[in-house]
Amino acid sequence: MIWHKQWIFGNWKMNGNQADNAALLQGLRSVSHDNAHIGIATPFPYLSQAVQVLADSPIWVGSQDCSQFAEKGAYTGEVSATMLKDCGANFVLIGHSERRTYFNEQNQILRKKIDNALANDLIPILCVGETLEQRQSGQEMAVVAEQLAVLQGLSVNHIAVAYEPVWAIGTGVVANAEQIAAMHAFIHKEILSIMGENVTIRTLYGGSVNANNAADILSIDKVNGALVGGASLKADAFSAIIANAQTE
Ligand code: PGA
Repeated sequence: MIWHKQWIFGNWKMNGNQADNAALLQGLRSVSHDNAHIGIATPFPYLSQAVQVLADSPIWVGSQDCSQFAEKGAYTGEVSATMLKDCGANFVLIGHSERRTYFNEQNQILRKKIDNALANDLIPILCVGETLEQRQSGQEMAVVAEQLAVLQGLSVNHIAVAYEPVWAIGTGVVANAEQIAAMHAFIHKEILSIMGENVTIRTLYGGSVNANNAADILSIDKVNGALVGGASLKADAFSAIIANAQTE
C-alpha cells in the first residue's frame, strides 16, 4: 500500500535538540493523510527518540546516511545499517547531494550503502540531482543517468528515488513544473530500463518544497512525493505540505 501513496518525507539534516525534537515529534504524531506515507530522517543521535515518540504511529523514522561498511568493527565514527535497524529505523537516505559534495560520495561507495540498507531490511532512498552549472550546460539528464546507474544489477521489486536539483536545495528556488515533469519522466524511464518493467517506483521531488508550492509540485505527473528539508522542522509547516498529498 505504501508504494501507491505519495511519500512526504522530512530531512532534518544537522538540526534539532532533544527539547525541540520532542515538541516537533509530538506535533507529528497526530498528523496523517490517507494519500500520504510520511517519514522523517533524523540525525543519528535522535533516531531512538523519534522511534520512541512515534512508536504507535505509521510515520517512518530513518536516517540520513549509513556506513559503507557492512560488518561491525574498527571504523571510528561510522554507523552501520545493522545498528540503524536495531534502533528501529525503516529507511535511509543514500547519496544526498550534501554527502556527495562534502564527503565526495560516489557510486561505488553509494552502492555499498544501498546493499547494506537492503541487507538489513531498510528502504534506501537514493538522492540524485544536477548542479546549476550542469543544468546550464544541458547535462542534467546525463548526470542523473550516471547517478541512477548505481542501481544496475540490483534485485528489488520496489525502488525510491528523490530528485533534488542541487540549485533548488535550501535556496528558495524551485525547479519549474516543466523541469520537474521532464526529469521525473526521465527517471521513471531510466529505472524501468535498468531494473525491468515490473519494478514499483516512488520518485520524490526535493528542493525548497513548502506549504505554498506543495500542491502544485505534488500534482505533477510522476511526482510521487516530496523530500522536505527546512520546512520539515516545524510541525505546522510539514503538516501543511502533507495535507497536499494527492491520490494517484
Ligand atoms: P530544502 O532541502 O527543502 O531545505 O531545500 C531539501 C533536501 O535537501 O532534502
